[in-house]
Amino acid sequence: MIPMPAGTAAFSLAGQSALVIGGGSGIGRAIAIGLAGAGARTSVSGRRKDWLEEAIGAIGAKGPAGRPYPLDARDPRALGGLLAQLQKDGGTPDIVVNAQGVIATKPALEIGEDDYDRVMDTNVKSVFFSCLVFGRAMLARGSGSIVNISSLAAYRGWPGSAVYGMSKHALKSLTETFGAEWAAQGVRVNAIAPGFFITDLNRAMPEERKKRALDRTPMRRFGELPELVGAAVYLCSPAARYVTGATIAVDGGYLATGI
Ligand SMILES: NC(=O)c1ccc[n+]([C@@H]2O[C@H](COP(=O)([O-])OP(=O)(O)OC[C@H]3O[C@@H](n4cnc5c(N)ncnc54)[C@H](OP(=O)(O)O)[C@@H]3O)[C@@H](O)[C@H]2O)c1
Repeated sequence: MIPMPAGTAAFSLAGQSALVIGGGSGIGRAIAIGLAGAGARTSVSGRRKDWLEEAIGAIGAKGPAGRPYPLDARDPRALGGLLAQLQKDGGTPDIVVNAQGVIATKPALEIGEDDYDRVMDTNVKSVFFSCLVFGRAMLARGSGSIVNISSLAAYRGWPGSAVYGMSKHALKSLTETFGAEWAAQGVRVNAIAPGFFITDLNRAMPEERKKRALDRTPMRRFGELPELVGAAVYLCSPAARYVTGATIAVDGGYLATGI
């Protein structure tokens, strides 16, 4: 085994390449900028090309920028095409972050098949096949790190967003299972469970729901997007080489609280 780099070098991503799906906005964009800041050449993917191009500009201001790769991650064939394109452009990424996600905020009794399919296809199916497509290529190489963006909803009931809660429970299982299956072959699969961060996903949340979220958060404030970067850089760095199947909560103490 190669000796662990000393000091802060253990947290460097210099020389690595990263892909952040959902990197055009919110949490994915902040993590993409952070990975580049730690030295990884970082590309972004998502459906909106103009948002990806903007994100690549912001990434380039902090570190090595890759390219924007527009795609709908719900289509496994599109994910296969993206891997082939990345391999042509430089190689299988060392790091893949699955930050794509959507929510349906309504009472369970009002959820229709369209909502169900949209949330499950984006939050579960796309992450599952992203892990398979990129994981298979990483396994062939014998190294790689995948980070999935989970949620507090993976640990609690989530009244008002039933399918979202189900999808994040599935993501937890998927992260633990792939982490265990691939542990001995050099590919690590971990997750980050953010607390409440105001993004396009939840900006329109009713004030009363926002207040309830804050009341249950021991730090009594929403997170700021750069506060997610440290966990992402750590999980992708040599410092975390013995860490797999794990989820780091970055939640102001939400999951730690009792009554
Ligand atoms: N904000 C929070 O408090 C919070 C808390 C816990 C977990 N999360 C999770 O964090 C992740 C990011 O959410 P966010 O809060 O940063 O909201 P966001 O800004 O809306 O980010 C969601 C991203 O997913 C991409 N996306 C959605 N559907 C996609 C598809 N079919 N194919 C490819 N990309 C797709 C979107 O890009 P396009 O629309 O351009 O495709 C967008 O960039 C989600 O998984 C969410 O569940 C958020």
